[in-house]
Amino acid sequence: MTIIDIINKKRLRKELTREEIEFAINGYLDESIKDYQMSSLLMAIVLNGMTARETIDLTDIMIKSGDIIDLSKIDGIIVDKHSTGGVGDKVTLVLGPLLASLGIKIAKMSGRGLGHTGGTIDKLESIEGFNTKIDKEAFIKQVNDINIALVSQSGNLVPADKKLYALRDVTGTTESIPLIASSIMSKKIASGADIIMIDVKVGNGALMKTLKDAKELAKLMVRIGKAYRKPTICLITNMEEPLGYAIGNSLEVEEAINTLKGNGPSDLLEVVITLCSIIIGAVKKIPNNEAKNLLFKQLNNGEAYKKFEEMVTSQNGDINSIKISDKVFSIKSDKAGYINKIDALKLGEIAKMIGAGRNTLEDEIDYEVGLVLSKKVGDYVEEEEELVKVYLKDKDVSISQILECFKIDDELEPVPQLILDIIK
Ligand code: URA
Repeated sequence: MTIIDIINKKRLRKELTREEIEFAINGYLDESIKDYQMSSLLMAIVLNGMTARETIDLTDIMIKSGDIIDLSKIDGIIVDKHSTGGVGDKVTLVLGPLLASLGIKIAKMSGRGLGHTGGTIDKLESIEGFNTKIDKEAFIKQVNDINIALVSQSGNLVPADKKLYALRDVTGTTESIPLIASSIMSKKIASGADIIMIDVKVGNGALMKTLKDAKELAKLMVRIGKAYRKPTICLITNMEEPLGYAIGNSLEVEEAINTLKGNGPSDLLEVVITLCSIIIGAVKKIPNNEAKNLLFKQLNNGEAYKKFEEMVTSQNGDINSIKISDKVFSIKSDKAGYINKIDALKLGEIAKMIGAGRNTLEDEIDYEVGLVLSKKVGDYVEEEEELVKVYLKDKDVSISQILECFKIDDELEPVPQLILDIIK
C-alpha cells in the first residue's frame, strides 16, 4: 500500500478501507507521509467526500492516536457541550453552571480557538487568577465536589486532529463535513463524557453557511455518537447576528454573569434553555415544560450564579477582578429605521482586529476590549441614537466600518428564527 495509491483512489471517488485510512493517518503522525501528500489526500476528501463508514473509521483512528480520558471516577451522568463557534457565543459559561446547579456533572475540556474572540477558556482567563490548567486528578475531584470544572485541553488528546487541523487551516481544506465531523467528535469522545451536546451554528458568522450543510453535519455527528453509544444531541442555531449583546472576552463574561443572575438577553436565554431542557428532560425524565420551569427557577433564585462563583473560587479566580477597558466610544446611527441585519462575521472580524481574538495560537488576547450592541435585529433606531459601544485599548477602528455592519431600512423584515432544528 502506498499513499499515492490512496490519494488516487479518493481522487477517483472510491471508498477507502479502514486499513488505508489508518495507513494515511498513522503515516502522517510518524512523518513517513509528508505534508504535501496529506494535503493532497485532504483536498481529494474535500472534493469527493467520505461515506459514513469512512468517517466513523477516521474518527476512531483519530481517537486512538492519543489519550482517552477516563472519567469513570466521576459519579453521575457527565455532559460535555461544544459549539461550532459563533460571534458572542458565551453559552457554555451559562449552561455549565446552570446544569451543575441541578446536579448534572459538567466536565469540559476546551481547546483555544482562533475565533473572532477567544474560546471559553480565554473568556474564563479574563477573570484574574482563574486557573484552567488543573491536572486530571484535581479536575475529577472538582467535578465530584461541585459538579463542574471547565479546563483547557491538556496531555495528548487526539494528536492526529491537532496535526491535521493545522494543515487544513493553511491548505484550504477546512470546509468538508466528514473532516469537521470527525475532528469535533474525535475530541468529544476522547474527552470521556456520557452525553455530548453540540450547538451547530449556521449563518454568515458561522462555520456552516447553509441550513442544509448544518443538518448534514449534525446528522453525521449524531451517527458517530451512536457508534460509540454516546447520546449526541445537536441544536442548529442561527448565527446571522451576534448572540446576546456583548462580543469580547471580559464583556462576554459580564453578560454571562448577568444571565446567570436572571437578567440575560432573550436570544442567549433561548439557546441556553433549549439545550439545558433537553438534557434535564433526558436525565431526570421530566417533560420539557417542567424542565424549563426548573431552569428559570435556578436563574431567578441565584443558585445558577452561586454555582458559577463556586467554580471560579475553586479554580482560584477572583470574581471581582473582571476588567473592562474604560476607553469607550459610542457609535451612533446615521439614519432612522428598522434594523434588519447585523453582520455577525464583520463585527467578529472588527472585535478580532481590536484585540479580542487571535490570528495565530501565539497571539496574545486583550481581554478588556470588544463591542456591546445597543440594538438587535428587529429593533427600531432613531437617527443619532446609539447602535453599539466600542471598548478599545491600543488599536482603533473606523466608524464607517462599524456602521456597515448594520442594515437599516424603512420597513421591518421578518426576524429570522433562532433555533432552526434539533437533531438527536
Ligand atoms: N472545529 C473543530 O474542532 N474541527 C473542525 O474541523 C472545525 C471546527
